[in-house]
Amino acid sequence: MNESVIKVEKTTIGIASDHAGYFLKCRIIDYFRKNNIDFKDFGAYNDESSDYPEYAHLLATAVLSGECRLGISICGTGNGINMTVNKHQGIRSALCWNEEIARLARAHNDANICALPGRYISEPEAILMVRTFLSTEFEGGRHLRRILKIPLKSN
Ligand code: RB5
Repeated sequence: MNESVIKVEKTTIGIASDHAGYFLKCRIIDYFRKNNIDFKDFGAYNDESSDYPEYAHLLATAVLSGECRLGISICGTGNGINMTVNKHQGIRSALCWNEEIARLARAHNDANICALPGRYISEPEAILMVRTFLSTEFEGGRHLRRILKIPLKSN
């Protein structure tokens, strides 16, 4: 086989937070480093008050372009950053608060971003959710039919 035509799958994981998710983001980045998971950090880069859309749009754009295979986003409740990335057509971001929800977000919804409520979950819970989200495959089948019906039809 001609080696030049072998497709190398991009495995970089994108991550973004606002100030409220900053410390949990740092712990998740520690987990990435420990496990040799390639990642790109889209900010925020400190815990000074900031606006989650600034980082959310960068993350969503990187996931849509294929620069990042999947994304992790964190704000205080997870809601603001989740709402923002979901404005991008083609992003399916799931607000996750336990491991089973994170697993089903991938298995049933083919979610490409996992949104976490940084102020309401512990570090071990977050790591468990991230690990499961990144390692679960989409099941396809009836779930594919359903996710294909999510986008609004343009006329
Ligand atoms: C910041 O205080 C907080 O409002 C934000 O992180 C997030 O929870 C918004 O949805």
